[in-house]
Amino acid sequence: MLSTNTYSLPTTIFLVLTFLFPSEAQLNATFYSSTCPNVSSIVSNAVQQALQSDSRIGASLIRLHFHDCFVNGCDASILLDQGGNITQSEKNAVPNFNSVRGFDIVDNIKSSLESSCPGVVSCADILALAAESSVSLSGGPSWNVLLGRRDGLTANQAGANSSLPSPFESLANVSSKFSAVGLDTTDLVALSGAHTFGRSQCQFFSQRLFNFSGTGSPDPTLNSTYLATLQQNCPQNGNGSTLNNLDPSTPDTFDNNYFTNLLINQGLLQTDQELFSTNGSSTISIVNNFANNQSAFFAAFAQSMINMGNISPLTGTQGEIRTDCKKVNGS
Ligand code: HEM
Ligand SMILES: *[C@@H]1O[C@H](CO)[C@@H](O)[C@H](O)[C@H]1NC(C)=O
Ligand SMILES: *[C@@H]1O[C@H](CO)[C@@H](O)[C@H](O)[C@H]1NC(C)=O
Ligand SMILES: *[C@@H]1O[C@H](CO)[C@@H](O)[C@H](O)[C@H]1NC(C)=O
Ligand SMILES: *[C@@H]1O[C@H](CO)[C@@H](O)[C@H](O)[C@H]1NC(C)=O
Ligand SMILES: *[C@@H]1O[C@H](CO)[C@@H](O)[C@H](O)[C@H]1NC(C)=O
Ligand SMILES: *[C@@H]1O[C@H](CO)[C@@H](O)[C@H](O)[C@H]1NC(C)=O
Ligand SMILES: *[C@@H]1O[C@H](CO)[C@@H](O)[C@H](O)[C@H]1NC(C)=O
Ligand SMILES: *[C@@H]1O[C@H](CO)[C@@H](O)[C@H](O)[C@H]1NC(C)=O
Ligand SMILES: *[C@@H]1O[C@H](CO)[C@@H](O)[C@H](O)[C@H]1NC(C)=O
Ligand SMILES: *[C@@H]1O[C@H](CO)[C@@H](O)[C@H](O)[C@H]1NC(C)=O
Repeated sequence: MLSTNTYSLPTTIFLVLTFLFPSEAQLNATFYSSTCPNVSSIVSNAVQQALQSDSRIGASLIRLHFHDCFVNGCDASILLDQGGNITQSEKNAVPNFNSVRGFDIVDNIKSSLESSCPGVVSCADILALAAESSVSLSGGPSWNVLLGRRDGLTANQAGANSSLPSPFESLANVSSKFSAVGLDTTDLVALSGAHTFGRSQCQFFSQRLFNFSGTGSPDPTLNSTYLATLQQNCPQNGNGSTLNNLDPSTPDTFDNNYFTNLLINQGLLQTDQELFSTNGSSTISIVNNFANNQSAFFAAFAQSMINMGNISPLTGTQGEIRTDCKKVNGS
């Protein structure tokens, strides 16, 4: 109950004002029901088409949504090319350059939507819809994507450099980057499960293979059988851009094998294995639950994708609906 016993006076005033003058519109699943009723199937068909020639593209598309939402919120800022007022693009930030991919597919989806419903669907919503299609078409859960985001007018390269997690970080540091955008430990573990599909370049885990943290030995939390395979694919002084599956068991399927892999020390990135191998961490029981119960993982993943998709969206009259996802309108 709302009473002065449970809320301080300033809190009560805040709640009353928030109720009388809501400052931000909420996203909802029916935002385009009259203006672009087929938006979901148009996106889903395009992703399905793309998957036929590139089994990795679903993984690449969900990663774009993640890297968008963690920097200035889910505003499609990651899609802006450098040029004009965009002096330092997010595409060229350290975690994205020569790493994120799928921009051409986003452009194809945007073109189809501009033919069906011109000027209506934001690029930020395209990323959210493409992420859901990618997961559901790969065997994972479906969920109702919340919509109504608008597209940003700026990019934040410094933010992308500093706010996106690096694969060389401690679990504590990764956790604090998630909590900085309002995501908790369950979100961190569930969303890390996206590494059940897609690829990683050798350079993002090779520090574990030969001389981990200056010990002269590989990372002790790396399974020795798996280690041998990885050392072969990623030899010392080899090409750091060679690709390796993130999930060695079912590379293109969205399932809970990411978590069963962690139980047998077959997490690929240091930050993957840390979720299970950091002594005393509250993430361990969550990994165990998801490894033992795929339904629990799928339900948590869908909820955490909605949570991630709600990070600071532009709504109402903020931002714009871009015509070309690569450029601010009129530039
Ligand atoms: C928890 C912290 C995370 C770290 C440190 C991390 C790091 C990485 C790295 C280093 C790669 C390989 C990039 C490359 O080789 O160019 C990668 C790939 C990928 N990440 Fe993450 N990631 C994290 C969380 C997430 C989240 C939350 C999602 C989505 C919900 C995600 C989805 C993916 C996917 C699907 C790929 C494969 C992309 C492809 O094949 O194109 N990651 N991640
Ligand atoms: C969805 O959000 C839009 C914009 O805030 C609003 O106009 C619409 O009424 C909402 N729909 C529902 C079902 O809440
Ligand atoms: C939308 O989908 C319906 C049925 O799925 C189809 O009949 C209709 O032509 C589509 N409209 C557009 C604009 O694509
Ligand atoms: C992002 O990091 C790279 C590499 O450290 C650096 O060259 C670039 O200037 C940084 N961008 C910003 C805006 O700080
Ligand atoms: C964690 O973050 C702190 C502060 O930014 C940094 O000094 C430290 O090197 C990071 N540690 C790891 C292992 O990432
Ligand atoms: C491992 O790295 C440390 C620190 O960089 C170095 O001193 C040591 O010689 C290396 N050991 C081997 C076996 O390469
Ligand atoms: C490493 O591989 C990439 C593509 O996989 C290629 O473009 C690049 O030239 C290679 N670099 C070296 C040093 O061989
Ligand atoms: C390493 O992986 C194998 C399967 O390849 C498994 O049987 C074994 O138990 C794992 N070892 C550890 C320490 O997890
Ligand atoms: C965790 O604790 C065990 C002993 O309980 C120890 O053998 C292991 O090295 C520790 N792991 C890490 C990563 O500190
Ligand atoms: C698995 O998780 C689902 C969803 O959270 C739950 O309903 C179900 O009871 C769990 N199954 C078992 C065997 O624990
Ligand atoms: C670029 O920035 C200038 C100065 O802030 C502004 O007047 C102009 O409208 C911007 N151009 C676009 C296309 O946003």
